[in-house]
Amino acid sequence: MASKGTATVAAAVPEVALRSGNARPMPAVGMGTAAFPLVPEATKNAVLAAIEVGYRHFDTAYMYGTEKPLGDAVAEAVRRGLVASRQELFVTSKLWCTQCHPDLVLPALRQTLQNLQIEYLDLYLIHWPICIKPVPPSFPAKKEDAMPFDFEGVWLAMEECHRLGLAKAIGVSNFTTKHLDKVLAAATIPPAVNQVELNPVWQQRTLRGYCAEKGIHVAAYSPLGGQNWDGTGNAVLESDVLAGIAKARGKTIAQVSLRWIYEQGVTSIAKSYNMERLKQNLEIFDWELTDEDRLKISQIPQKKVVKGTDLFSREGEFTSVDAADLNVEE
Ligand code: A2P
Repeated sequence: MASKGTATVAAAVPEVALRSGNARPMPAVGMGTAAFPLVPEATKNAVLAAIEVGYRHFDTAYMYGTEKPLGDAVAEAVRRGLVASRQELFVTSKLWCTQCHPDLVLPALRQTLQNLQIEYLDLYLIHWPICIKPVPPSFPAKKEDAMPFDFEGVWLAMEECHRLGLAKAIGVSNFTTKHLDKVLAAATIPPAVNQVELNPVWQQRTLRGYCAEKGIHVAAYSPLGGQNWDGTGNAVLESDVLAGIAKARGKTIAQVSLRWIYEQGVTSIAKSYNMERLKQNLEIFDWELTDEDRLKISQIPQKKVVKGTDLFSREGEFTSVDAADLNVEE
């Protein structure tokens, strides 16, 4: 660890080259900015703290409402000389379901770039394989606003964003193998990344195998079990198996989870707005799990937390989406 001002700068974070030729390589741990309730100033301050401790990879989405505070932090980081330029950072954002219409993709990206006050994204993802009528976004959405997803039309519009240089790499999020099949059938530029819920308690072995075969890099959201999205607690941070391994290695449970994900070749998008935890979550690159640790982790009972169906209100009818399709376990 080297010192810069009063903050500590973490040892270099490994990076992975994405298949989209001119994309900046993606740092193996990124900072997530999905935080509820949304407090823009807290996001901005946390991003600045993260840059100070060595983060260069930031993840946002139109739906999170954190594009603007992330952009404010990036601008301030450049002004304060924490980074020489925006080019040092890897910034991801995501197309919301109400924007998943071929003619709305480019305008949505332009809006996102305006919110972020930057010229291009390093990575633009389709947030969900779900299309909602182009109504103002609400959460949860009305079931009757669900529409069939035009995989070919939306993906070709994503490719256009890439060709225009506005998204250095393009990809998807929450896509199953079935959804990826549809995108790959239409694609001239295949998706570079699929960002999904992934951690020792939801390991996604089938999907990872598929993505490895197709050259799609996998990124993990909820790498630490998420923010109690389903109200049942946090199965990662409360795991006895991970606690035992953490004790034996002299690490925290969070570090064991992030290290395991890194060893699988997957990039973690970890959310913390706390300086100490931000730092801790980068300190995973100079030690290893043992074979015995890996075996124990492979035997952890599996549990998916983020269900696509939660995006819709409980009332109303699905008109054109198969509910089972939104909640695929693989
Ligand atoms: P906080 O922001 O207070 O640090 P995920 O990244 O899986 O979405 O999970 C993030 C949750 O885990 C957040 O609630 C975050 O809270 C917490 N968290 C992040 N890093 C750590 C850590 N190193 N130790 C314990 N909890 C953590």
